[in-house]
This record gives sequence, C-alpha cells and structure tokens, in this order.
Amino acid sequence: MNEIERVKPLLEALDGRTRPIPPVWLMRQAGRYLPEYRALRKRAGGFLDLCFQPELAAEATLQPVRRFGFDAAILFSDILVIPHALGQRVAFEEGEGPRLEPVADAASISQLCDEIDHGVLEPVYEAVRLVKPALPPTVGLIGFCGAPWTVATYMVAGRGIEGQMPARRLALEDSPAFAKLIDRLVAGSVEYLVRQLQAGVDAVQIFDTWAGVLGPRELERWCIAPMRRICEEVRARCAGARIIGFPRGVGTALPRYLEQVPAQAVSLDWTIDRTFARARVPQNVAIQGNLDPVVLLAGGAALDREVDDILESFADRPFVFNLGHGILPDTPVGHVERMLRRVREAGRG
Ligand code: CP3
Repeated sequence: MNEIERVKPLLEALDGRTRPIPPVWLMRQAGRYLPEYRALRKRAGGFLDLCFQPELAAEATLQPVRRFGFDAAILFSDILVIPHALGQRVAFEEGEGPRLEPVADAASISQLCDEIDHGVLEPVYEAVRLVKPALPPTVGLIGFCGAPWTVATYMVAGRGIEGQMPARRLALEDSPAFAKLIDRLVAGSVEYLVRQLQAGVDAVQIFDTWAGVLGPRELERWCIAPMRRICEEVRARCAGARIIGFPRGVGTALPRYLEQVPAQAVSLDWTIDRTFARARVPQNVAIQGNLDPVVLLAGGAALDREVDDILESFADRPFVFNLGHGILPDTPVGHVERMLRRVREAGRG
C-alpha cells in the first residue's frame, strides 16, 4: 500500500485541510440501531461487561465501520466509566439508562477515590490496542471522555434528569465541594485521555452533553475553565494531541468557548445557526456536525435537504460530517446508507 492510500481523511480535516468529500462518522455509531450490536450486547450480559471485555468492546467499535465504511471509529465505552473508576457504583438498566449511587454532598464527594483506578480502566486501553491494527489504514480512531460538568451531573443526580437540577443546585449551594469534584474529574480525565492516546487513538473527543443548561457565569466556571485545563494538560503530556470539543447547546456562547478552549475541532449540535457558526468559528478550528438525529430518523427528502445544506454551509473549510448528537436507537440502517451516499456523491459532484 502506498503512502497516499494511508492518508486518513479524518486527520486531514482535524489538521485544518479542506477536502472535497468530508470525512464522515456518527456519534453513537455503535449501538442499538444495529442488529449486530444487539446480538453482541446479549452475549456480553450487562453494558459495562461489554465495555470492560476488550475483545467485545473492540468488536462493537469495528461493527459500524465494517458495515458502513465510516472514516472514523469511536472507541466503544461510556463516559460513566470514570465515576466507576473513582469508586462510585454505576449500573446500566436495560432500556432505562444509567443509575449511579448519588454523590450529592461534600461528605460523599470526599469518600470518592482521590485518583481513578487504572486497573479498572485497563480493558479500555487494551480495546484500543486491539482495534488499532484491525482498522483499515484510512480510518481514524477516536477516543473520548465526558467533560467534567456532564459527568458530574450524572454523579450528583445518580441519573439523567431534565435540566440537571441536582448538580446545578449543588454547584451553587456548596461550590467548594462541587469544585473538588470537578477537580478530581479534570485530573482523572487528563490521565484517561493520555492513556488512550498512548494506546493508539488518533484523536479524542470530549463530550459536554449538558453544557447548555448553564448560565454564562456557571458555564465559564464549570465547563469552559475545566475544558481549557484538560486541553492544556493533555497537550503538555502528548504533544500535538488532537482534541474535539462538543459543548452541546451553548448557542451564542460558542465563540467564548472557542476563545478559551484550545481544541482543534468543535462538534456542533443541530440547534446552532449554521451562518452564525461559519462566521464565528475561527478558520483554524475544524467544524464537526451537525445533522439533527431526528432528521436522520425521519429520512426521505428532509434528510437529503439537510445533508445538502450542511455540505454547502461548510464546503470551504475543514469539516467532518456528523450528527449534532447521538444516533437514535430507532434509526433505520437504510437512512444511514442514504445519508452516506449523499455526502460522498455530492463531494464527487
Ligand atoms: O459513540 C459510540 O458509538 C461510542 C460509544 C459511546 C457510548 N456512550 C455507548 C453507549 C459514547 C461515546 C457514549 C457517550 C455518552 N454516554 C454520553 C455523551 C454523549 C451523549 O450521547 O450525550 C453520555 C451522556 C453517556 C451516558 C449514557 N450512556 C446514557 C445517558 C445512556 C443511556 C441512554 C442511551 O443513549 O442509551 C448510556 C448507555 C449507552 N452508552 C449505550 C451505548 C451504546 C446504550 C446501552 C445499551 O446497550 O443498552
């Protein structure tokens, strides 16, 4: 195989080069919309068993790449393995989402381990080492973690709660205790991402799914400042590490996030105005996104129209085609195929 064939479109885009056909992958591309994932999940037993058995996690990572020929694989794991590695009890109930033993006050925060237990996370690093040689040479491998704020919302509430009230309240009522939790998550996330990079991932994405529930002051303190620290510390340990930020729902605070968070790329949710994004995301920051997962679920002409609009909006800049949030479990596989054809044929134009 010659050098040209080895080029990874994902890395080209993250490194600032514009491509006629953008690289494509989907958030939550491994998951319940795939029959092969459902079969694997049944074999594994619990969801965490799937995350912590390297052969099975590697297989789940590879499944969507094999089926669709995506330009990136995202490591199969979950953002809640970090609370688990800090000693919190984490369980995933079938069809109900995560359930954690809530860490809701200063006393329970101080009972968490000071540092994450890498023995617990070793299977994740092993999965990276297994996936890497099994991927086609043009496909990038993405590692990830949750942003401290988003992970903290689940740790404090014990589950996903509309508006993330428990974490927002604790952050205001006992900000020193909440800051201690965030600090622990910053340190743990840095170490976790560094080890994923050392094991061989090409880039990492930091998911801040709940950034959008915070007002400006809290956004600054609990999302932007910790994200900045993570980026700086990861880069200090792994020179040139590629980092994608996903501050879901920040809307008009996006420029402020980008002024302070030194990420190579930003993943945009579907609510952002694309003209605003074009104008306010610096040219040296790649854009990723931002198809509405409901549009992919619906398919048809609405899907074609949105794909075309996204491609046109971000044609003249480094861009990675993706959803604005995770793929919905009921999404027909045929709609993903239709989307991919449209993205790739438009680029051939
Ligand atoms: O993207 C991928 O395919 C890689 C794997 C991945 C999962 N979770 C697997 C998963 C990634 C990157 C995540 C990130 C994640 N997990 C986030 C941030 C991104 C986002 O979607 O907002 C969050 C908030 C979580 C926490 C989480 N994990 C929730 C709220 C749930 C339940 C709801 C749901 O979407 O199922 C999970 C479970 C989960 N994580 C599943 C998968 C495939 C489904 C579990 C199952 O098989 O039953």
